[in-house]
Amino acid sequence: AKNPVRVLVTGAAGQIGYALVPMIARGAMLGPDQPVILHMLDIEPAAEALNGVKMELIDAAFPLLKGVVATTDVAEACKDVNIAVMVGGFPRKEGMERKDVMSKNVSIYKAQASALEKHAAPDCKVLVVANPANTNALILKEFAPSIPAKNITCLTRLDHNRALGQISERLNVHVSDVKNVIIWGNHSSTQYPDVNHATVTTSGGEKSVREIVTDDNWLNSEFITTVQQRGAAIIKARKLSSALSAASSACDHIRNWVLGTPKGTWVSMGVYSDGSYGIQEGLIYSFPVTCEKGEWSIVQGLKIDEFSRAKMDATAKELAEEKSLAYSCLN
Ligand code: NAI
Repeated sequence: AKNPVRVLVTGAAGQIGYALVPMIARGAMLGPDQPVILHMLDIEPAAEALNGVKMELIDAAFPLLKGVVATTDVAEACKDVNIAVMVGGFPRKEGMERKDVMSKNVSIYKAQASALEKHAAPDCKVLVVANPANTNALILKEFAPSIPAKNITCLTRLDHNRALGQISERLNVHVSDVKNVIIWGNHSSTQYPDVNHATVTTSGGEKSVREIVTDDNWLNSEFITTVQQRGAAIIKARKLSSALSAASSACDHIRNWVLGTPKGTWVSMGVYSDGSYGIQEGLIYSFPVTCEKGEWSIVQGLKIDEFSRAKMDATAKELAEEKSLAYSCLN
């Protein structure tokens, strides 16, 4: 039997945490034959609720779940973890300025960077979900210099999956027959959902989405804004932000990272930029990636037209601004 993998979920008493931990315990993140030990971190005011989640995990009698650590102690939470899913953060409340939310979160991510650096397994893979996701991941990377930059990523897979979903609804095909959309940039409303390289499997073989969706107008405007604004649409409908889809996409992100992407398929991940596609080095930017043997690599050589170029640059510019705002909060 395989040794258990230790998976940390921060903010585990929250909405996404509640949807995510049972998925991990059922094998949706690391596969149906991989035992796991869940480490759950939250803050003192949520300690009792966190313990309630632990009780439910015990009650669900998951065969793959070999142990549960539920704690408000960051060092204990990070001890020897192989995977860290960072969902904990400070939500934007009514009347709060962007800078106030940024300030709260960058100080959390700076502190948790140090804890991971000191206590996590040396090869720990980190996925930041909490917003501002790209910038929280950037701060985590900068303040955990001994963790390789390639091990620190943020979640844009939900946006990627939303884009697949919109195409599949439009064409009335199954979502698994659509692939290779791209989310470029920030997990924010400036993200650029790009369909120029996306394909659909049809009875007549693989076709490009541009060829099948003949309505360019829809692809160039409504499709993009629907994906960009989907988070707000969910809040409007549920009075709560996306949780099950965020949790499921976080499992997809880690599963593909660890176990690989299928041949001919790429996914979107927020990763540090090496300058690919002219994106400023060092930003945590969402790119198309393929994964093999536990490592991602940015898909190279895609043709970028003028329309895409402008949108990719606009979201990069926002990330550069967020980076300086984050640093001004830390000083
Ligand atoms: P939530 O408010 O229900 O849960 C957040 C949890 O984090 C709470 O239990 C809170 O006590 C905890 N927390 C706060 N500070 C903490 C700290 N320093 N250490 C550990 N835990 C801490 O929020 P929800 O709905 O679960 O969302 C979590 C985050 O994920 C938010 O920042 C949200 O904006 C973000 N998000 C990101 C998505 C993405 O695609 N990247 C999609 C959906 C949400």
